[in-house]
Amino acid sequence: METKVIRINGSQSYDRLDAPARALRAGELAAMPTETVYGLAANAMDAAAVEKIFAAKGRPQDNPLIVHICALEQWGMLVKAVPPQAERLARAFWPGPLTVILQKSGLVPDNVSAGLDTVAVRFPAHEVAQELIRRAGVPLAAPSANTSGRPSPTRAEHVVADMNGKIAYIIDAGACSVGVESTVVSLAAGTPRLLRPGGIAPEQLETVLGRLEIDPAVYEQLREGQKAASPGMKYRHYAPLAHVTVLEGTADAFFAYVQAYIDAHGAQGVYALCFDTETEHLPVPGVSYGAEEDPGSQAQRLFDALRELDDRGARRVFARMPEKRGVGLAVYNRLMRAASFEVITLAE
Ligand code: TXA
Ligand code: MG
Repeated sequence: METKVIRINGSQSYDRLDAPARALRAGELAAMPTETVYGLAANAMDAAAVEKIFAAKGRPQDNPLIVHICALEQWGMLVKAVPPQAERLARAFWPGPLTVILQKSGLVPDNVSAGLDTVAVRFPAHEVAQELIRRAGVPLAAPSANTSGRPSPTRAEHVVADMNGKIAYIIDAGACSVGVESTVVSLAAGTPRLLRPGGIAPEQLETVLGRLEIDPAVYEQLREGQKAASPGMKYRHYAPLAHVTVLEGTADAFFAYVQAYIDAHGAQGVYALCFDTETEHLPVPGVSYGAEEDPGSQAQRLFDALRELDDRGARRVFARMPEKRGVGLAVYNRLMRAASFEVITLAE
């Protein structure tokens, strides 16, 4: 299939969204920008179209999708009911990088929710995503637009690398501003539960919800056979081709460790994933992922940096540890998955 790339710059070019909107209505796939990462969209009410998402990504059939809406009125037909806590979350954080899970209605095809009786819904803040949903006239199911297992795409070039020839359209609106996926919170049963950290920090959710349970999969690797509340959290994710290890400690301890490593093993294929000002002090080539004091910049840069490491042929990567506060928790969660949870704590 020929994939057409459509470039959007400003609302004067929104008419270019009519062709992908028509394709979506006809059951085809289109990649769309959102404020978090690029999504691979299909008509959420069309099971055959949704099936194509799983095929294009190579996504495991048991991993449910997020349904994207462009107006609060579209929520009602997707879920059994919208409880007061969900309404409060929507008022505080929508449109924005938050996904809310509720009991699903009978209208949502089974493959959207991978057989679960719940559905994840998000109202994205990106104007191009909203405009595409509006013109398509239906809610859009959309996972991140990467091949399963690869880092999520934060620029259209990343989507082209993974999806060219497999989908009808890629809508290019430049780099995503948040850079990590939405926060996923379940209100489907009992106490609200954070299933995936993302663009909205847990501290922000707590101000609206009061109590919030944090799913263990946020911090740790699930053990063999352990059930995942959010099926996506059990897969190896965001992984570059290189073997990644996160080093916890100061910048000086990091430099010393990497120096000792190349003294013993050679520097071939060894890279550092570090903070902005550090690349020139390293004994190996470095790719930076934002400023040490600025978790937002790390979120924005992380996936692009992981892909750059692949492009530069990295085989062995040592990464600096991010802080876990605010959106930093999402950065930590994604980097730990990219490293298959391999961390070395450095002595001072
Ligand atoms: O920011 C985002 O959320 C992006 C953009 C495109 O909106 N989308 C995204 O989708 O990250 P995806 O499919 O890569 O991640 C969706 C996550 C997965 O971990 C999935 O298991 C979980 O949400 N999920 C979806 N529906 C669920 C449900 N009914 N119950 C539990 N987890 C669910
Ligand atoms: Mg994904």
